[in-house]
Amino acid sequence: MDPTECTLRDRTPITLRQAAASDGPGVWLLTRDQCEDGRGQVIEVDEIGTVEATTAKIADFPGLWLLAVGGDGAILGSLEIRRLRPRRVAHNGLLSLGIHPAAQGLGLGRAMTERALAWADAAGLAAIELFMRADNERARALYRSVGFEVMWIRERFIRLPDGAAVDDVVMRREAPG
Ligand SMILES: CC(C)(COP(=O)(O)OP(=O)(O)OC[C@H]1O[C@@H](n2cnc3c(N)ncnc32)[C@H](O)[C@@H]1OP(=O)(O)O)[C@@H](O)C(=O)NCCC(=O)NCCS
Repeated sequence: MDPTECTLRDRTPITLRQAAASDGPGVWLLTRDQCEDGRGQVIEVDEIGTVEATTAKIADFPGLWLLAVGGDGAILGSLEIRRLRPRRVAHNGLLSLGIHPAAQGLGLGRAMTERALAWADAAGLAAIELFMRADNERARALYRSVGFEVMWIRERFIRLPDGAAVDDVVMRREAPG
């Protein structure tokens, strides 16, 4: 996928490009900042794993790993579409997306999602699924607007540290046509 440029609502210029193994440390920092923020997250900070593990995951990733990079080189967003490896299910993808807490609500999630879905459609993926916390209204609105539908609600799937239970939503988008 060729790099593309976009501009956020606050006029920050952004490059959208494929991740490389050398992005491991930057992706790790983004994940840490998101986990510390907590919104929309399931993983806790001490569960992230090492920078080396992140680097290895990028190097061996099957599918699209799209990054949003600011002018200073900071990674502000990361979107993965993991293409399932076995041939009989390789027409399916699993999407996950995270935007840095300081860059949320500025149009970056939408820009990355639209770019990634264009890639998925061109790559011949027939369906993409994702998992989302039921209390994540922003993500739900974004995913619905680009064609994802709710398939299943996994009731009380998530347990927060204070004991509160949160449902998990499984969404799916089939390729147009
Ligand atoms: C959810 C997330 C990916 C959305 O990305 P974003 O860059 O913040 O969102 P955008 O600014 O592109 O807005 C996308 C859409 O969300 C909706 N939205 C934005 N702010 C919202 C709010 N406060 N309440 C409800 N919906 C909202 C709108 O439909 C918006 O689209 P539009 O403004 O073009 O109409 C991002 O906030 C994030 O990473 N959150 C934490 C981690 C997470 O939740 N990841 C997804 C887990 S599946």
